[in-house]
Amino acid sequence: MFQSVKILFLTIVVITIAKSADAAQKCQKKPHHDSFVCVCTEKRCDTIDPLKRTDNDVIQIYESTRAGKRFARRIQKFGYNVKVLYAENRNLTIDRKQKFQEIIGFGGSFSDAASLGIGSLSKKLQHQVLSAYYGKKGIEYSVGRVVIAGSDFSNRPYTYDESPWDWNLVNYSFVEEDTKYKIPQLLLAQELSNIKLKYFASSWAPPAWLKTNNKLNHGGGLHEAPGSIFYKTYAKYLLKFFDGYKAAGIDWWGMTIQNEPATGFDPWFPWNTCAFSPETERDFLKKDLGPTMEAAGYTPENFNIMVLDHNRNLLPAWADKIFKDPEASRYAKGTGVHWYGNAVSSVKIYDDLHALHPDKFIFATEACTSGPDGDRTGLGNWTIGEEYAHDILRDLKHWVTGWTDWNLVLDMVGGPNWVQNYQSAPIIVNAEKNEFYKNPSFYAMGHFSKFLPPKSVRIGILPEIIVNPDSDQFQAGAFERPDGGIVVIIINSRDANQLVTITDTERWTVKINVEPHSFNSLLYY
Ligand SMILES: *[C@@H]1O[C@H](CO)[C@@H](O)[C@H](O)[C@H]1NC(C)=O
Ligand SMILES: *[C@@H]1O[C@H](CO)[C@@H](O)[C@H](O)[C@H]1NC(C)=O
Ligand SMILES: *[C@@H]1O[C@H](CO)[C@@H](O)[C@H](O)[C@H]1NC(C)=O
Repeated sequence: MFQSVKILFLTIVVITIAKSADAAQKCQKKPHHDSFVCVCTEKRCDTIDPLKRTDNDVIQIYESTRAGKRFARRIQKFGYNVKVLYAENRNLTIDRKQKFQEIIGFGGSFSDAASLGIGSLSKKLQHQVLSAYYGKKGIEYSVGRVVIAGSDFSNRPYTYDESPWDWNLVNYSFVEEDTKYKIPQLLLAQELSNIKLKYFASSWAPPAWLKTNNKLNHGGGLHEAPGSIFYKTYAKYLLKFFDGYKAAGIDWWGMTIQNEPATGFDPWFPWNTCAFSPETERDFLKKDLGPTMEAAGYTPENFNIMVLDHNRNLLPAWADKIFKDPEASRYAKGTGVHWYGNAVSSVKIYDDLHALHPDKFIFATEACTSGPDGDRTGLGNWTIGEEYAHDILRDLKHWVTGWTDWNLVLDMVGGPNWVQNYQSAPIIVNAEKNEFYKNPSFYAMGHFSKFLPPKSVRIGILPEIIVNPDSDQFQAGAFERPDGGIVVIIINSRDANQLVTITDTERWTVKINVEPHSFNSLLYY
C-alpha cells in the first residue's frame, strides 16, 4: 500500500516535470502604453515551442495581438466557419506556382550597446536573452550583424588602431567589447541555434588618421583615392577584424563595405562615419577590399559583400553604378538597405533594382525607432511593433530577402550611446533588477523569423496589394518553407476584425478571424 502510493506520487512528479520542461512558458505581462511587455526573470521567461508538422486537413494559427496574446496557437480545420460580430471581409488566394525570391534570414545586431547590455545581466539571463533570439524555443534568428569597432551605440568613440601612420597596423588591438562581450556572445548564440548562423559585419569609421578630417565623426572620407595606401591600409584593417574573430571561432557569412556611407558628406554628422560615393565604393571594392579579402580566403564563392548599407532613396542608382562594373560586380553579391529613408521613397524602388540586377540580392541590414523623448525605449508600444511588421512584409513583397534589426538589446534609457541617440529595441534590459522586457517588436520579428527559415521562398498571393503598397494597414504574404509547409503572414493594424477567406488554389478554402491590431502566422502542410 505505502509502496504503491509512493510509486503513484513519483509518477505524478515525473509527468509534471516532463510537462513543464516541454510546454511553452507563458508571458508575464506588464502593461505599458497601448499594450504590454513580457517580463523575463531568472525564474520565468516566455518561450515558444518548435513548430510542428500537422496533418493535411488542419491549419495552425499563431497570433499576437495588441489586446493580449503573444504567439497564441490554435488549430482550425479547413472549411470551418467562424462567427464574428463585426468584421470586414477579405479574400486571399494563394498560388504556389508563382515563385519569387529565396529568404536569406532574419536577425539583430551585436553592437557594443547590445553586447554590454546583455553582459549586464546574470549569466543565466544572458543565456535566456540569446536563447529568446537564437534558440529552438525562441524566435530562431538566423542572422547576426556585428559592429566593427565603435558606433554611436558605444560608450565612447574608438577604433582598433589609434597610432597615427601605423601602416603595418602593429598597434591594432581588440578591446574588451570584443573579447569579453561580442565574441563569447556570438559563440553562445551559434551554440544555441539549430542552424549555421549567418554573421556579417559593418564598420562605421576607419581610424581618424586615415581620414581627411582626422576625426571619427563629422564630414570626411579616406585620404586620397582607392588604390592609395590609405584605402589599402583600411582594407587590411578590416581584414584583421574578420581574421581575429575567425581565430576565436566565428565563421563569417559576409560584410557591408561601409555603414551609411552618405552620412560622411554631412559636415556636422554627429557620430562615427566615413564618406563613400558610389564611385569610391566601387573602386575601393575592386582595387583594395575585394582582392584583400579574396587573398585571405573570403572569396566571392563563400563570402557575401554588400554595397550601400544605407537608405533606399539612394537606389537603384547607387547599386547600379557598382554592379555595372564587371570587376567590382564579381565581389558584390547584394545590396544592404536601411529603413530610415522610407518616407521619401516607395518600396517599389526594389522592383526597379531587382529588374536591373536580378542576380543580386537585396537585404535589409538595419532598422530601429524610438518612442518620444523621455520615453525612448517605448516599453509596450504596439505601434513600434506594427511599424516593424509592416515594413518587413512590405519589403518581402518587393524582393527583399531578409531583415536585420539594429541593437538586440538596449538599457533602460535606450543606450548606451555616446551621442545620446537613444532608441528602442525589441528587448530592453534592466541590470539593476536583473530582468529584461520583451517589447511588441520582439514578437513582430518572431512572426517572420520563426516561421520563415533560410531557403523559404515567397509564393503568389492575391490581391498583391490592397490599396497602396507603402501604406496598407492590412497586408498578407505567402511563403513555402524548405520542409514543404506553407506560411501565410497577415498583419492587421485596422481597428476592426477581418474575416479572411483564404483559398489555396491547389487545396481548399478556410475562413479565419483576424483580430484588430494583430500579427498572424499561419502554417499548413
Ligand atoms: C470573396 O469571395 C466570395 C466568393 O467568391 C464573394 O462572394 C465575396 O464577395 C468576396 N468578398 C470580397 C470582399 O471580395
Ligand atoms: C605603437 O604604440 C606605441 C605605444 O603607444 C608607440 O610608442 C609606437 O610608436 C606605436 N607604433 C607605431 C608603429 O605607431
Ligand atoms: C509609440 O511609438 C511611436 C513611434 O514609432 C510614437 O509615435 C508614439 O507616440 C509612441 N506611443 C506612445 C504611447 O508613446
